[in-house]
Amino acid sequence: MAMTVKTEDVRQEVAQSAQAATSAQDLMSRMVKLLHERMLKYNWVGFYMIEKDSDQPQMLVLGQFEGAMTPHTRIPLHQGICGAAASSGKTVVVDDVAQDSRYLACSLETKSEIVVPVFVHGQVVGELDIDSHFPAAFKDEDRTLVEFCATLVGQYLGKNPA
Ligand code: SME
Repeated sequence: MAMTVKTEDVRQEVAQSAQAATSAQDLMSRMVKLLHERMLKYNWVGFYMIEKDSDQPQMLVLGQFEGAMTPHTRIPLHQGICGAAASSGKTVVVDDVAQDSRYLACSLETKSEIVVPVFVHGQVVGELDIDSHFPAAFKDEDRTLVEFCATLVGQYLGKNPA
């Protein structure tokens, strides 16, 4: 799917910024800032990473984010749109969160959401979650951009294990 000038510009900015990252945390921090600043409909942008070294059922734990604080700092893999994306290993796009029974509310203003898993060597290790105050904000070109970002983080983590 062709990107508009805007999403293609942002993709290039993300790629450039990634080259300067000094750690995975730094990469994720740069990425959420850039996406939040440049993409006006991306009102909350954050990473959830699967907790390691736990003998409890797997949990998604809030990492770097930009936007309002969320009550959901830990999400079990069987809950929420976040849990659905992580457990299926598939991108989830929800055009109207009010119509999706899986949705865990973060802000009353949120109308649509995209969650893209991050893979390292074929395994889901976390995800990039974006909420919008606009209904159906995430089109094919947004999905392409967000999947590009999640892939960059997965590649970085694969080369530089945390
Ligand atoms: N809405 C998500 C929870 C995370 S907040 O949006 C930041 C979900 O349904 O899993």
